[in-house]
Amino acid sequence: MNTSTTRKLNGSNHLPLGDQRNAPFYGKDILSVKQFIRDDLTYIYEVAHEMREMVARIGTFDLLKGKILANLFYEPSTRTSSSFTAAMERLGGSVIPINEVRYSSVSKGESLPDTVRTLECYADVIVLRHPEVGASALAAKYARKPIINAGDGVGEHPTQALLDLFTILEEIGDAEGLTVTMLGDLKNGRTVHSLSRLLSLFHAKLNFVSPAVLEMPAEIVSELADKGIHQHAYTDLDPVIADTDPVIADTDVLYVTRVQKERFASEAEYDEVKNLYVITPETLKQAKKKMIVMHPLPRVGEISLEVDEDPRAAYFRQMEYGLYTRMALLAMVLGKA
Ligand code: NCD
Repeated sequence: MNTSTTRKLNGSNHLPLGDQRNAPFYGKDILSVKQFIRDDLTYIYEVAHEMREMVARIGTFDLLKGKILANLFYEPSTRTSSSFTAAMERLGGSVIPINEVRYSSVSKGESLPDTVRTLECYADVIVLRHPEVGASALAAKYARKPIINAGDGVGEHPTQALLDLFTILEEIGDAEGLTVTMLGDLKNGRTVHSLSRLLSLFHAKLNFVSPAVLEMPAEIVSELADKGIHQHAYTDLDPVIADTDPVIADTDVLYVTRVQKERFASEAEYDEVKNLYVITPETLKQAKKKMIVMHPLPRVGEISLEVDEDPRAAYFRQMEYGLYTRMALLAMVLGKA
């Protein structure tokens, strides 16, 4: 593990012009949002802005020319994997894609530590998605090169939370004191685990809307409570409470998530909770004009297609913010920003 004090080796001692090896994050792992303070975020988003400008101006440039990323995915992915690939290629680097571990030596029984120690012989940074909580931390223990956690089971998804927060900052202007309503599978959704922790740095008020069996894990609730974060749990966006507005009316950011089918013990248990919430234009009638609707995607019915036409639907823009955020992170851990 390497998050704050020590740096990992990163190849040769040669320092080409433009290297920023004293910069924060150089050679560091990105494992959990717990490792960030607000100054880190300011820095990441400054770099992300520069990336956006460069992409708009010239599309692809050579900041990471000669660098190689290993994209190691033990679980399905569309956005995370392809945005890391796009990020690396827009920076002039290249990618070893391992999207189907069943075609790699993993299917022969190779352990995660051995797989990452293999890939770091060929690559400068490893992006890892794995079904087990703590897999990235384990990989980081063995790897000399930076490991970026792209989702460890029901644990965390820190780069998603960083792009989610970037979306909020860009769309709303500020995250301080916002009311953020997270809806859906808060138990198994790693994106909300990371995002709620990150938002605690901005004193957000958090509403958690989920069925009782999919509540935000107690350990995260108590972690947030220790930081003085206001949290309210509901089973409905429009709970029947005398003299109060629906939850949606106070919400600045509605963060919708998919019920994580793959984490259920049986299809029958999934079927009981799968279609409980659907956001429709009707839902948004009660919401603020400046609210935004976010979703890490994929959606499987929890936001109706008609909502896409509403300017408050930010989930497609959110993906683009992800490209700039991941470009920034790659440049930073490789000592070029
Ligand atoms: C999320 C994930 O993998 O946790 N997807 C993503 O990275 N955009 C959300 C999900 O799969 O529901």
